[in-house]
Amino acid sequence: MGEMRQHPTFPRPSASAIDKARRLLERALGPSKVITSADGCAAYAGDESDQPPVSPDAVVLASSAADIEKAVRAASEAEVPVVPRAAGSGKSGGAVPVGGGIVIATIGMNSIKEISREEQIAVVEPGVILADLHAAVEAEGLFYPPDPNSLKMCALGGNIAENAAGPRAFKYGVTREYVLGLDAILIDGTRLRTGRRTVKGVTGYDVTALLVGSEGTLAITTEATLRLIAKPPSVMTLLCLFPDVRASGRAVSALVAAGVVPRCLELLDRPTLDAVRARGVGVDERAGAMLIIEVDGEPADCEVQAERVGEVCMDAGALDVLVAQDEAQRERLWEARRQLSPTTRAMARYKISEDVVVPRDKIPALLDEVAEISAATGVRMLTYGHAGDGNLHVNLLWNDPDLVPQVETALSRLFRAVIGMRGTLSGEHGIGTSKADFLALEQSPELIAIERKIKALFDPKGLLNPHKIFPRRTLEAAERGERDGGAERAPGFPTHVVAPSHGAC
Ligand code: MLT
Ligand code: ZN
Repeated sequence: MGEMRQHPTFPRPSASAIDKARRLLERALGPSKVITSADGCAAYAGDESDQPPVSPDAVVLASSAADIEKAVRAASEAEVPVVPRAAGSGKSGGAVPVGGGIVIATIGMNSIKEISREEQIAVVEPGVILADLHAAVEAEGLFYPPDPNSLKMCALGGNIAENAAGPRAFKYGVTREYVLGLDAILIDGTRLRTGRRTVKGVTGYDVTALLVGSEGTLAITTEATLRLIAKPPSVMTLLCLFPDVRASGRAVSALVAAGVVPRCLELLDRPTLDAVRARGVGVDERAGAMLIIEVDGEPADCEVQAERVGEVCMDAGALDVLVAQDEAQRERLWEARRQLSPTTRAMARYKISEDVVVPRDKIPALLDEVAEISAATGVRMLTYGHAGDGNLHVNLLWNDPDLVPQVETALSRLFRAVIGMRGTLSGEHGIGTSKADFLALEQSPELIAIERKIKALFDPKGLLNPHKIFPRRTLEAAERGERDGGAERAPGFPTHVVAPSHGAC
């Protein structure tokens, strides 16, 4: 979706480098673990972002850390890029092999190696599906809070690479706060063990924290030690309807100011509710905005919190506050929320879902800005998301490819407005290729230079997941829609590759 955007072009490896890489991979891993056919490679070309799919030149089906080590050694020798991939459900292009090369698929490494009640930790491989981990730890009375809405399809390796979050991050925080330690492999085959198994520890630099959220550009995770907490004994879910988004924004600020800490505080604006109604879901016609609020704790405590939430919302102008009566109603409500991404995707030929964050008192201002941008550019926009964190998914939808320049204008106005509000470009999806050209809006040249040096330290030849995070075009060139304008060559930027050959597989 959204493939009509003017993405920059990326160089690919030479035909001889690809041949060499395939030979070395097949020799090291055996042909059963290496895919080189065009059809086979095509299945690893895209993710859930607007980045157009690009077929890799080979795919390694890793079933162990040893496989990954062999694969990166072969790639390094042939000087061919490597793109790690778990479930491929990312939303910023992180798993798309934009410069070709070798995809290392870790989805086959899906064992939950340990769940310890005594230590409250789990040890997992990168291909474990998040919903499977939730089920396994909850069966032990434990809880792993991060819950991106794609939890039934996303895998821990991708969650760690992108520092994924989800609705429960409001109370419990993001993936990084639950990763105690990592086993990871560098592009030259070096194996690193970072962090610890203990809940406390401050030895040396926090390399674990650096690797979490590094979008697969520094190392490939082969095992993660995760912190668990006790499963909250009781949960209550409330649906609060508001006449307009301003009133719901007031409620979010009032809840935060009142010190009420629901575990989820999700907002749906009027265009999103209209989209939900158009799919045949009955939503009170008076409602112009909705909050889904969930509290947890001891049953009596939940009652008190829910009552307080209801009072604060009514004071802020809610039309109604409804409480899910049983687990089945709760699940139906969340399923509808989880379906927002696919529902909105089905509404237009092209879609981009952003994940900007603003200070929570700026939510109404952001929604006003979105309405203005939509009116000025003619691009349909709707917003929903994790209002408790100020993290909102602004969706841009369009059918007509000729609207692309307006889409680019809308995106750049959105990002500039968010930064003007002292917000940030990404709350959970990562920068990837989708927002790389806008990095300089938020970060200073000095900071980006340090980040490039870190990248170069881990990956001197720029072979591991190249073209992600760092801009390929200057901000101005990207905003003018030039595909290659202002391309940079800086430490960490691959220089070994030749011009595009587009000879995938
Ligand atoms: C969500 O919150 O549903 C996901 O982050 C995906 C999205 O809608 O962009
Ligand atoms: Zn989200």
